Amino acid sequence: MMKLAKRMATAKPSAVVQVSDKVRDLQKQGRKIISFSIGVPNFLPAKHVYDAAHKAVDGDSGAYLPGRGSEELVNAFIARMHENKLTYKPSEVAAAVGGKHALFNILMAILDEGDEVLIPSPYWTSYPDMVELLGGEPVFMNCPASQNYKLKPKQIAAAVTKKTKAIIFNNPSNPTGMVYSREEIKALGDELEKHNIIIISDDIYDRMVFDGEKFHHLLHTNPKLRDRTVIVQSISKNYGMPGWRVGMVAAPEEMIKALLTLSSAQVTNINNVSMAAAAAAFGGPQDFSDAMMPVFQAKRDKVMKALAEVPAIKCPKPAGAFYAFPDVSAFYGKTYKGKKITDDISLCTLLLEEKDLALVPGSAFGDGNGVRISYACKDDQLDEGLKRFVDFFKAVEAENSHAA
Ligand SMILES: Cc1ncc(COP(=O)(O)O)c(C=O)c1O
Repeated sequence: MMKLAKRMATAKPSAVVQVSDKVRDLQKQGRKIISFSIGVPNFLPAKHVYDAAHKAVDGDSGAYLPGRGSEELVNAFIARMHENKLTYKPSEVAAAVGGKHALFNILMAILDEGDEVLIPSPYWTSYPDMVELLGGEPVFMNCPASQNYKLKPKQIAAAVTKKTKAIIFNNPSNPTGMVYSREEIKALGDELEKHNIIIISDDIYDRMVFDGEKFHHLLHTNPKLRDRTVIVQSISKNYGMPGWRVGMVAAPEEMIKALLTLSSAQVTNINNVSMAAAAAAFGGPQDFSDAMMPVFQAKRDKVMKALAEVPAIKCPKPAGAFYAFPDVSAFYGKTYKGKKITDDISLCTLLLEEKDLALVPGSAFGDGNGVRISYACKDDQLDEGLKRFVDFFKAVEAENSHAA
């Protein structure tokens, strides 16, 4: 028998990946599953991105490149950060195999056994998994639907202890689609100025902000935090390139040095072709990405319209990314075709089994009152999926109305 490391006893695969794998299996069996489960934006990068990738394949792309990233990628990323009014030198950036790898290495670089990491909940499912794998302890700050899933400064004040090493802040948010206003960011920034902890700012959805609003950053409102802020970026969402696996980090030099040391032991450099494509995505015309934002906004509107048909579902209106996180807890304890809905997991199981509709249970994101709808699918799929969703809840209401 293979004797694995102790840390593997509690390590678990990503809940989102598990749901996606299950959907793929069912689809292979011929089931017409509609999947609202995985965070893949359904658009392709522009021609200039593919051209850059082809050029890298055709040219001399066989050599190892710098772990930080090619000069072209580093410069394109710096220019992209600059558009966001964030200024970094080449020595303050590093490439990674996606935002996920970046986050893992950042945590590996800062966490000692027992160190605490503050995480607003609902959270992206991998944050606590990574913290735990690396010997740290996630400390959750609950931000339910009733507070629009947004973190409040006093929650930071209440959660910080001597063991707190860092906070992970994700805006726009996966899984809720919430976007913080400038005032809200400033209030959080003012609170964070009082606590000497590292701020990991996961900005990978920063271009995906709707309704004419802008993306605001802690370093815009509280530039003093720069010395202890680590920014994570990625081409996965903003540029529709998840499978190309490129993430970037912008941070003070000492953090970047640590990340380069770690990645030199792990991957040497990220894939050359992806690097060229990422440089084109970050540094080239942004219109292919811009063009998607009204499309996602229209999809968000469809989701909200459908949810409004079931008033017992409460869903703070998402203003970015491509997720909605309806609170469906009013239906717990009720039945569908005689089968009891006990929680988010039984609800999602019923939706999958009875309606061929896949969603991720909210407990995977730390909030079992909700379910995550990832609406970045084709419109016909979205319409059909939303119809199945609404039909399901209306049927539950009808079936249980006598008991009310
Ligand atoms: C909030 C958040 N951060 C990081 C990631 C990692 O993205 P990637 O590794 O594809 O760059 C994801 C992916 O879903 C995410 O939603």
